[in-house]
Amino acid sequence: MSKPNETAIQRRFDWQYPIIDRADGIYMWDTEGKRYIDGSGGSAAVTSIGEGVQEVYEAMYQQAKKYSFYPAHAFSNPKLLELGDLIADIAPGKLRNNCKTWMTVTGSEATDDACRVARQYWVVKGETSKHIIIGRWQAFHGANIFASGISGNTGRRRIYTPMFRDMAKIPPAYCYRCPFEKTYPECDLLCARALEDAICQAGSENVAAFIAEPVVGSSLASYPAPPGYFEIIREICNDYDVLFIADEVMTALGRTGRMWGIEHWNVTPDIIALSKSLTSGYFAVAAVIARADIWNVLQEANAHYVGGHTLNASVIGMVAAIRTIRYIQEHNLVENARVVGDYFLQQLETLLDYRTVGDVRGRGMMVGFEFIANKETKEPFPPERAISRTFFDLAFDRGLVTYPCAGTVRGVAGDTIMLAPPMITSREQIDEIMSILHSSMREFEEQVL
Ligand SMILES: Cc1ncc(COP(=O)(O)O)c(C=O)c1O
Repeated sequence: MSKPNETAIQRRFDWQYPIIDRADGIYMWDTEGKRYIDGSGGSAAVTSIGEGVQEVYEAMYQQAKKYSFYPAHAFSNPKLLELGDLIADIAPGKLRNNCKTWMTVTGSEATDDACRVARQYWVVKGETSKHIIIGRWQAFHGANIFASGISGNTGRRRIYTPMFRDMAKIPPAYCYRCPFEKTYPECDLLCARALEDAICQAGSENVAAFIAEPVVGSSLASYPAPPGYFEIIREICNDYDVLFIADEVMTALGRTGRMWGIEHWNVTPDIIALSKSLTSGYFAVAAVIARADIWNVLQEANAHYVGGHTLNASVIGMVAAIRTIRYIQEHNLVENARVVGDYFLQQLETLLDYRTVGDVRGRGMMVGFEFIANKETKEPFPPERAISRTFFDLAFDRGLVTYPCAGTVRGVAGDTIMLAPPMITSREQIDEIMSILHSSMREFEEQVL
């Protein structure tokens, strides 16, 4: 266990962290020998291929023996070029072999870079007033200060509000608690149409891009937009010359049962941010894919992209990403995420029998459920009770790591649990997860009701 007086700062001050000792596949062991299932896929939806894949270590080791770092302002490296080609080969829709990719380090940098590319593109084209990035409430695009301004995750952004530039936001695509109090499909997807209002109010000459997660991760515990949503978003973006950025930091590379989360809709974004599954946590790598003609505008004007970080495109990271993508392809993990994910969601529906579970949702191996204090009114538990944390503790005691989230109701209340085990997870392992979820639920209801 970690000690309260140690000098390294951990994420929480009120939690005694067990020390992790080793991990293999979907399992982890602490130094006391206790085994845990990686039910959240790291923090969260990271560990796509599971722990202990020897060929990833081996490829990184072989590269490190040659060189592990190089001056990126002076040299390129073959692995960077190879990864760019590999991503172009698997990119979704009209981006397939028609895109170029900028490599960076974290998901927050990928979304930041996606917005910078959008801005720089418009400036070079002479549309210098285009700078607003419209986002959505109950969305998370990163922990840096800029991302806080485009994100709508109240708990993670509020204290920094005086420090960032707040950007326009539209309501989330969240049918369970529809912001317009309508029902799909009679709603006519007002949540998507709200983008047109936001663009007009800001003035389209000022709007550079719209950013959204195809399946909302930690802010709504794996909530997918309804069918037709992104088709309307795409049309509005086209009509008003606004770029569409898909934040696929959680959803890319098979997590939702398709190679790209946005492939559940019949549209192609202009720009995609990805990270997490890209290296499954074996190294810190993220990327920004944009249509080739967006980069070409910069290239033809010799307007170098100005968002570089020191550790961008690290060669070891590039090797880890190439090997991870190859592993996903060679082991049909996208298909596994779809088939086993469907089974997971079906099993998760049994949680609806509990008095405190109001909704289950998800796509592929990215699912979640929402707690409610009252089934008829959908009233949430008081936020100060932090009941998603209570559930996390109960499941953790039983050896299952879940991801507790809050803020589905006006950003301040509404508890959820997100689950996103590695894409290698089998049906039998889902059964194991379900058994712990049920046993935790029984004790949870004894405690909270
Ligand atoms: C959708 C989304 N975008 C961006 C980020 C930021 O990624 P990172 O934590 O790697 O900076 C996250 C992190 O969870 C995320 O879920």
